[in-house]
Formats: sequence, structure tokens, C-alpha cells
Amino acid sequence: MTEKLEEVKSNLQDETKTITTRKDAEQLKIKYLGRKGIVNDLMKLIPALPTEKRAAFGQRVNFLKIEIADIIDELITKVSAEVIPKIKTELFDITLPGKRPFIGKKHPITQTIDDIKEVFARLGFDVVYGPEVELEYYNFEALNIPTDHPSRTDFDTFYIRDDVLLRSQTSTVQIRIMEKQKPPIRIIAPGRVYRPDTVDARHSFMFHQVEGLFVDEGVSFADLKGVLNQFIKTYFGQNIRMRLRPSFFPFTEPSAEVDISCSICGGRGCSVCSYSGWVEILGAGMVDPNVFKAVHYDEEKYTGFAFGMGVERITMLKYGICDIRLFYENDIRFLSQF
Ligand code: DAH
Repeated sequence: MTEKLEEVKSNLQDETKTITTRKDAEQLKIKYLGRKGIVNDLMKLIPALPTEKRAAFGQRVNFLKIEIADIIDELITKVSAEVIPKIKTELFDITLPGKRPFIGKKHPITQTIDDIKEVFARLGFDVVYGPEVELEYYNFEALNIPTDHPSRTDFDTFYIRDDVLLRSQTSTVQIRIMEKQKPPIRIIAPGRVYRPDTVDARHSFMFHQVEGLFVDEGVSFADLKGVLNQFIKTYFGQNIRMRLRPSFFPFTEPSAEVDISCSICGGRGCSVCSYSGWVEILGAGMVDPNVFKAVHYDEEKYTGFAFGMGVERITMLKYGICDIRLFYENDIRFLSQF
């Protein structure tokens, strides 16, 4: 009986020499260790043995089983390793273009803010930031919007306490900067603003603005037009036209709303521009003397202009995005297009 076991082992060793593929090695494993394999056949011999020999034989078969498993596993490892260089030389075309790793992108709002920063940096504007939780004084009072001013409702506001709120406009940063610095001042201030609007395709309770402020001796409305024109042409393209309409903001006098020729239809008229060919993109004007008074600037000596734009809005106009909610849903299919 012992010879039989030896024979099985030596047969196996002979067979392993001829095997070169993983598939054949797996077959060999089934042949020896499978349910109907050679080792199980040996087990079946046990009942035919004299009782006193059964235990010893069973034990030897078990040892043999372990040995066989080791031999075959080693063989499988060996032939698998040999396959890899073979793939490299024979099956693998190293000239094929590789798969690009997925690289994250900036959110379109961040990209737009970066684009705006770049245009204004070239015009000599510094980038500054202010707090989102703000005192009523900076959001209204110092901007020439006293408590009973009817325009307060235009800047409908989330209040935290009587005198503390979530800023409803980035114009707050104008005051914070002028309090700290003397002219010349040339800044833009990007950031989030909050208003209790019902969310729909065009409104959100949180959105982004970029504020601009330029104060020095002899700054004129023509400077404002020149700077805005430069921004619009760079951001939207050379063919885009700009127009100013008289308007009202408490912190600027005179004030204007600035339109561009509709970037979606090229000015011919479409649903985005309500078939007028023009879309409003920002508010602007010459800094009101009352604002200078609030920050103790000599309003006889200095003049300045200010402007404020909605980042979501200009991003939507530039790329033809029809729903503001897309910016906040974090859908990778939308975000990866930019
Ligand atoms: N703060 C205004 C708003 O949120 C936008 C604005 C208009 C800013 C005129 C200005 C400006 O600086 O001069 O609607």
C-alpha cells in the first residue's frame, strides 16, 4: 500500500515537469485533489483494508494530500509568473494610448471667479475678502441704506440677530476695505451672499458675487466704462457689446445697470434675453458721497466707481446653462463638462 502512495507522488512529479500554463496546472489539481480525483480514490480503498491498518493508511493519505496540494500550488505560482513577461512581449501593444487617469476639475463657479480675478489682476485690482456673517452696519447703514430705506427689501436678508446677518451683497467689503486703507483703492471682492429667495431655476438662497471698487483722485464714469468693457470683452468675447442703462443703487450716484448683447443668441433674440437681444449682468455706478462720509474719506478730493455682479448669472450666460440649481447638485456629469 505504501508503494502505491509513493507511486502516486512520483507520477505527479513527472507530470508537473510537462506543465507550462496555469490552466493545465489547475486541471492537474482537479485530477489529483478533486472530488473524483486520485487522492479520493485512495481513500476509497480504506474499507477494504484490515481494521488495524485502516487508521495508519488514512493518516498517510492525508499527509500525501497536503504534499500534493503544496506541489501543485507551487506549480501554479510558477507558471502564472511566467505568463506575465509573455504578455508584455507578445500580447501587449505598448504603443496603444494609455487610459487617462480621472483628474478632478474646478467647480464652474470657482473657474469663473478665477477668470474674473485674472482679468482684473491685469488691470491692477487686488483680491480681498470679507466675512459672510456680517454686521447690519456694513450690509446697509454704511452703504447709505438706513433702516427705513425702501430699497432694503431689494436686499432681503437672513437675520441672525437684530444687528447681525448673513450678508446679502458683497458691497459690504467696500466699506471694510475703505475703513482700513486710504486711496488709491483698487479691489475686487468675490464671495458668497445669502437671500431668502425661493429656490427655482433662476434663484437660490445662496449665490456668489464679485464686487469691484476703484477710488482715487479724478476717477470718472469713463474709467468705469473702460474697465467694464475690458472685462466683458475678455470674459465673454470680443464680439459681445455692452450698454449701460440708468438705474438706482443707494451706494452709487449716478448708478447704472449694465447689459451685454445676448451671448446665447448673439443679440437676435431668444428666450434667455426675452427676445430683447440684451441681458443684464451687473450693477455699477460712481460711489455715493455718503458712502465716503461713512469711511471718513474726503468726498471733495476723491471719486470712485463700484460694481457688483452675480457669478452664477454670468457663468450661466457664458455656457448657456438654464438652471442655477445645477451648480449645487454636485452631479459629476454636469460638473465634468467645464
Ligand atoms: N450690491 C448690488 C446687488 O447685490 C450690486 C451692485 C450694484 C454693486 C451697484 C455695486 C454697485 O457696487 O455699484 O444687487
